[in-house]
Amino acid sequence: MHLSIVGLGKLGSPMAAVLASKGCHVVGFDRSAAVVDALRAGRAPVDEPGLQALIDAHRERISATTDLTAAVAATSATFVIVPTPSDSTGRFSTTAVVDAVSAIGTALQQKTDYHLVVVTSTVMPGATGGEIRRALESRAGRPLGPTLGLCYSPEFIALGSVVRDMLRPDMVLIGESDARAGDLLQSIYARSCDNQPAVRRMSFVNAELAKIAVNTFVTTKISYANMLSDVCDRLPGADVDVVTSAVGADSRIGPRYLRGATGYGGPCFPRDNVAFGALARTLGARAELAEATDSVNRYQVERVLGAIEARATGAAPIGVLGLAYKPDTGVVEESQGLAVASHLLRQGRRVIVYDPKALPAARAALGPSAQAAETAADCVAKASLVVVMTPWPEFGRIPLDAFRRTGRRLTVIDCWRMTPPEVASVADLVFPGTGAETGSAVGVTNRG
Ligand SMILES: NC(=O)c1ccc[n+]([C@@H]2O[C@H](COP(=O)([O-])OP(=O)(O)OC[C@H]3O[C@@H](n4cnc5c(N)ncnc54)[C@H](O)[C@@H]3O)[C@@H](O)[C@H]2O)c1
Repeated sequence: MHLSIVGLGKLGSPMAAVLASKGCHVVGFDRSAAVVDALRAGRAPVDEPGLQALIDAHRERISATTDLTAAVAATSATFVIVPTPSDSTGRFSTTAVVDAVSAIGTALQQKTDYHLVVVTSTVMPGATGGEIRRALESRAGRPLGPTLGLCYSPEFIALGSVVRDMLRPDMVLIGESDARAGDLLQSIYARSCDNQPAVRRMSFVNAELAKIAVNTFVTTKISYANMLSDVCDRLPGADVDVVTSAVGADSRIGPRYLRGATGYGGPCFPRDNVAFGALARTLGARAELAEATDSVNRYQVERVLGAIEARATGAAPIGVLGLAYKPDTGVVEESQGLAVASHLLRQGRRVIVYDPKALPAARAALGPSAQAAETAADCVAKASLVVVMTPWPEFGRIPLDAFRRTGRRLTVIDCWRMTPPEVASVADLVFPGTGAETGSAVGVTNRG
């Protein structure tokens, strides 16, 4: 099977490698020459676990080009995975998708046999059957039908596990122009998936809504757990982990994404929620649930800042451990660790930060006033107070000596409650989400 991919970024390049690993011949196209050159040279254009190994192992079936017409001519289906940034109203912009699909349509004027175009980028409900379809049909010079198919099929992946998530998805979601288009795409997934995921085929608009509904539901669950955590802060004797372990054991609810900790971040969750709210309002439907989820999420940064404010003493900097929005990625978009560090700097505080992967992106966002530590232990050793914002496993293995102080005790505010209990012998551990025994105003228990 010969396939082309337009947009070789955080999703597109792993998709190229995954499809090649299943025997497909993949041609990648990107408007960035640097990205095309990287893939041509056998280098992963993005940092994603497992991607380079997959490219190394299947390089003979992966090529990259700046000639879209040739890529389309040589393949039977083209995936479009270009950015759809949020606009000022919270809706996803389709400018790059329409540009890409228009260029594919122009290329299709030269190709008379059947071709399938698959939009993988996240788009607003109505976009695929509206402006995207119009752009494709008008440029190709023929309507969707016997020789032209269109599908909307978004990915449900998390950065840091994109390869794994593409190989073993829970669900394959297909919005299709007709059965032939859907059958072809389903056969591609049957080949690329290691598991046998649920397959849901439907109209464009249902698939577009289902994509943002899944993410919005998950964010609602995260904000629910964080709402419980905030209550537990103020409820003597309460422990959010104990409560969520019981709540998550109910099969109607389930334990995943039910952890009271920091808020969600990254390039998808926050904006999908906002987009859902914008969609509902545009339609005259009520958007309170999406809006409340977003507002609870933003409040988590204030919660952490409040806990810091109540305890920060000393001239040494405040240590922020974790700037990536989640482990296994260097992405800092909408990261709550980055938000906390940047608020502290704006308050005029000294800040020392550490993250195993996100320091370059964080430095660019925070500017020169933030000091960067070489290691997690170095960050702890130089700080007057430490806050753990991202659950990188290594933060649970920092040597005890880094926490020791002479003449006073270090305070560690650990939003993920991963600091080993023995640290309490030398430092004060503050675990948000565990009830204040004395009902303290900042509402978090000191263990130590
Ligand atoms: N990153 C995620 O976690 C994630 C998860 C689910 C869905 N998505 C969606 O997938 C889409 C792509 O996201 P991403 O994270 O891979 O983006 P990205 O920014 O990492 O990569 C996009 C690539 O597309 C290229 N590009 C832009 N316009 C182009 C054009 N007109 N023609 C050819 N190439 C073009 C860029 O040069 C870049 O290499 C977005 O709609 C996003 O919402 C992303």
